[in-house]
Amino acid sequence: MRLILLGPPGAGKGTQATTIATEFNIPHISTGDIFRYNIKEGTELGKKAKSFMDQGLLVPDELVVEIVEDRLKKEDCENGFLLDGFPRTVPQAEALDEVMDKMNVALNKVINIQVDKEILVERAVGRRICKGCGATYHIKFNPSSTIDQCDKCGGSLYQRDDDNEATVTRRIDVYLNETMPLIEYYEKRGKLTAIDGQQHIDKVAEDIISMLRSGK
Ligand code: AP5
Ligand code: MG
Ligand code: ZN
Repeated sequence: MRLILLGPPGAGKGTQATTIATEFNIPHISTGDIFRYNIKEGTELGKKAKSFMDQGLLVPDELVVEIVEDRLKKEDCENGFLLDGFPRTVPQAEALDEVMDKMNVALNKVINIQVDKEILVERAVGRRICKGCGATYHIKFNPSSTIDQCDKCGGSLYQRDDDNEATVTRRIDVYLNETMPLIEYYEKRGKLTAIDGQQHIDKVAEDIISMLRSGK
């Protein structure tokens, strides 16, 4: 299964990706996570990406495309992959088409998680992430049972640098301007399926998995 998860900041891409990747036994590839890892490790790539991310802007296409291309060539992607947060611009989508053509593989589906703008800010600002295992929580919608501590591994929870109201608002605007055109891009190619992302987390997962299993 070769899949793309599309949706605005806070739509639930990362949350759903964990379930889908397990269900279909495919790697979850999040360009945002790759950048955050590089920032933490202090790499050149991390240094370049950080200033864009802190401002809520997109990292330039040429930096992103190469990383994804390398990642898709790894052995664990042979039977499929789940892209989360890539592509995000039309040039990135075109580059992905080229890479997949070269690899002689085709995309199965682009899942568009739809959530109203008003809800997105609250979701992102209330998000907490585990330092140990990366699990995602929300202070109101999906809280851990002990405050600031992960249920799965006991790790401490933190907030992303770009999850403040001003930066989230900017990220949503960037999404509307630069990423929304991909909806039409994949619709035209017959790949797009919309999913209602405003339901309970488990119901969203159920809808996505049954859609993928039925192939509709
Ligand atoms: P990235 O990390 O991809 O961030 P994003 O797209 O802004 O999306 P988020 O991770 O914020 O949201 P999500 O949809 O994953 O939501 P989540 O599941 O966590 O990118 C960050 C930055 O990196 C970009 O701004 C850019 O600078 C750079 N970048 C990355 N990729 C790039 C690319 N391809 N090109 C250029 N630049 C790139 O859920 C959010 C919260 O809501 C959580 O707390 C969760 O618990 C809660 N929640 C989830 N689902 C539900 C539900 N159904 N009901 C209630 N609460 C829910
Ligand atoms: Mg995410
Ligand atoms: Zn954890």
